Amino acid sequence: MNLYKFVSNSLNKKLGFVANLEIPKNREFGDFSTNAAMVMAKSAGKNPREFAGELLPKISELNFVSDASIAGPGFINIKLKNDFIWESVNQKSDIKNQNPYIIDMDYGAYNVAKSLHIGHLRTSIVGDTLNRIAKFLGHKTISYNHIGDWGRPMGLVIAYIESLHPDWPFFQDNFDLKKIKPEDYKISAAELDNYYPAASARGKEDEDFLNHAREITAKLQNGHAGYNAIYDIFLKVSLDMMDSIIKKLNMMPFDKTLGERNASQNLANLEKILNDKKLLEDSEGAKIVNIRRETDTEPMPPFMFYNSRGADTYEATDLAAILYRKTNDNPDKIWYLTDSRQQLHFKQVFRVAEMLDLYPIENLEHLYFGTINGPGGQPFKTRDGNVAGLTDIIEMVNNAVRARITESEKNLDDKTVEAIALAALKFNDLIHDVKSDYTFDPASVTSFEGRTGPYILYTAVRLNSVLKKSDTKIKNKSMVDITSDERNLLVGILDFERTVQGAFDNRATDILANYAYDLCQLINTFYHNCPILHEDVKADIRAQRLYIAKIAFNTLSSVISLMGLNIPDKM
Ligand code: ARG
Repeated sequence: MNLYKFVSNSLNKKLGFVANLEIPKNREFGDFSTNAAMVMAKSAGKNPREFAGELLPKISELNFVSDASIAGPGFINIKLKNDFIWESVNQKSDIKNQNPYIIDMDYGAYNVAKSLHIGHLRTSIVGDTLNRIAKFLGHKTISYNHIGDWGRPMGLVIAYIESLHPDWPFFQDNFDLKKIKPEDYKISAAELDNYYPAASARGKEDEDFLNHAREITAKLQNGHAGYNAIYDIFLKVSLDMMDSIIKKLNMMPFDKTLGERNASQNLANLEKILNDKKLLEDSEGAKIVNIRRETDTEPMPPFMFYNSRGADTYEATDLAAILYRKTNDNPDKIWYLTDSRQQLHFKQVFRVAEMLDLYPIENLEHLYFGTINGPGGQPFKTRDGNVAGLTDIIEMVNNAVRARITESEKNLDDKTVEAIALAALKFNDLIHDVKSDYTFDPASVTSFEGRTGPYILYTAVRLNSVLKKSDTKIKNKSMVDITSDERNLLVGILDFERTVQGAFDNRATDILANYAYDLCQLINTFYHNCPILHEDVKADIRAQRLYIAKIAFNTLSSVISLMGLNIPDKM
């Protein structure tokens, strides 16, 4: 049950007004506190402490309150009855939303013919966890890997392949797919990985090459059969590459992998709608929508529908994707996860979507995130100065975990090492405020202590081993007598539902990750101070503690699975 919600609702009902309920840092004096007396005293014409004194008897009447007391200038501390806490952990969960949303979630959004890099880490990890959280709360989500697959990079890669294999048939205007076997034209992942940087470098120094690439892009977008056929060959290689990363990161598979190319099929339709509304204007050969408003205080350049070369723009494909999603999923909300540099892009797209009555702006959310920096504060690079690839990063963290394990003379198999490394990587990402930059250091994220993934997993593994060792069936016996460490843990467990709801409402995975850490702290204090299987422990106390250990483990497991992680058997 959501303890906070229950106490808050009961309190408001009792007082007849909405009291602000808080969870004090130091729980010694109360499980909750409210500043209601201080807020309301003025309008009641009283001083806050005096007014608090009048509220106390009412609060004490609530049958779950064991003690209510005044502190400082007029805070009221509320302590709950132990029996009530014990019963509450057995209450059925009311976490599933009664009025669920349909949410289209656009994250990952990897690019064709380009390997995944550090810039794709946050969108993948945070996106996947927000998706899991939304589902857990009962919302219907549809995840989109909106692949970047349609702009100039495609023309550049095709031009590059043409320069390597001028004899391949794809580059002829009279190309006929029926006359070839696509399997005869192999492009390996490693080759493809080199093509884009090489092509883009050539484009910078060779004007003719660049112009040719632009021409190819335009023809590709207009349906040139040969360019589309070779494109399909390297698209497949890219999709396989994406798939392997999705698995490595233990992400849920995407519901739809539809990128800019698919979206572009809606462009003609969209153009008609824009024209009907008289929104499209010609501007130096381009087609634009003027989106500036009188009230704008920041620059708001026009939305470019086709550029002056007639090519589809990134903005246009995003608008077309909204039209597609509206028609096919009719979601209540669309969320986008990209880095903060795309803020203007999404503002522009959302404005036009609103002008077309597709969606009010508040239903389209750009959840942007900061940069991942290296220890020097600069964007994280590999040792040779290149942008770090996602596979490099995963390998780096695996190695850091392996080094720690060797040092502590533990003996763990590869699967366990990978599970720990993944926890290190993902937890570190989830615990940082999404909007801010953070520093990534493989050595510190793999520590087994502090706010790290390995610490969370270790706590779960250790607690689970107690449960596995106990030979009795763990049942909910009545409460015997709980110590403050047991009590604190139970209250912590009862904060789970509020946490998940809060993480969803704020689109903030750090709320969940910090909760995981706090819960682990409570579990470890309980573990140290409340012996369970020791032979001196009386049977009824043991049964009670085993039960607490079991629900603590279940709660922690739920948090861990929301973070897209698995608990190893041993650590
Ligand atoms: N492919 C883009 C990139 O890697 C991100 C796309 C984000 N999603 C979208 N609908 N624009 O930067």
